[in-house]
Amino acid sequence: MTTRSKKERVRGMFNAIAHQYDFLNHFLSLGIDYYWRKKAIKQLSFNPPSAILDVATGTADVAIMAARYFPGCNIVGIDISEKMLNIGQQKVARRNLSSRISLQLADSENMPFANNTFDAVMSAFGVRNFENLDSGLAEMFRVLKPGGKVVILEFSQPTLFPFRQIYRFYFHKILPFIGRTISRDKRAYTYLPESVEIFPFGNNFLHLLENAGFKQCKYYPLTLGIATIYVGTKE
Ligand SMILES: C[S@@+](CC[C@H](N)C(=O)[O-])C[C@H]1O[C@@H](n2cnc3c(N)ncnc32)[C@H](O)[C@@H]1O
Repeated sequence: MTTRSKKERVRGMFNAIAHQYDFLNHFLSLGIDYYWRKKAIKQLSFNPPSAILDVATGTADVAIMAARYFPGCNIVGIDISEKMLNIGQQKVARRNLSSRISLQLADSENMPFANNTFDAVMSAFGVRNFENLDSGLAEMFRVLKPGGKVVILEFSQPTLFPFRQIYRFYFHKILPFIGRTISRDKRAYTYLPESVEIFPFGNNFLHLLENAGFKQCKYYPLTLGIATIYVGTKE
């Protein structure tokens, strides 16, 4: 029996749910994901970028939102799932943003870009899915220009009682049931809580950013810690 790598499993899973991904995202988060993405993009407003890389862009929600927020900016989005990118491409075209957003099939852990290419690098709900997190963060650092900022939005774990207990019940029991029923994919919405459970958050993730070379690293928990924004600078 052959065991597939995490990357192959993740690609297969996102290819399988691509058509339901946007709907389920907004439905299962009650639309809060929109506000989280916007907050992440606003982290760049102090020094508006001209070139952004959106890592693990998926269906390009962050790329599209960033293009609207920074009208002078070009955005490149990369992802390993061609089906997610196809949906993203259609959304970009429908919004007449094809001249400013280009989507490419590429691996975040081995990016096809020269050193010091982008003013900012973003990733929303992407890094948790990497096979090798350290390589992914090192690549983000490499392609960022000195003075540029990385902004990462990722799920974390609420710690406040009793919110933590209520949220865990929703996230581990109700969400997988709804996700499975609508997407008809057995794995994806069990993978979501399981992958969040083992993923570093707060100071633990900040240390990984620092190890990758980023300075002035900070984090901002959102919605009682369900998600967190991490920022860092390449000096
Ligand atoms: C949860 S989705 C997030 C999509 C989008 N950023 C958003 O905010 O909705 C995770 C994405 O990460 C992509 N991904 C996982 N590993 C990757 C890698 N090594 N390189 C590029 N993309 C990757 C998956 O294909 C998937 O589209």
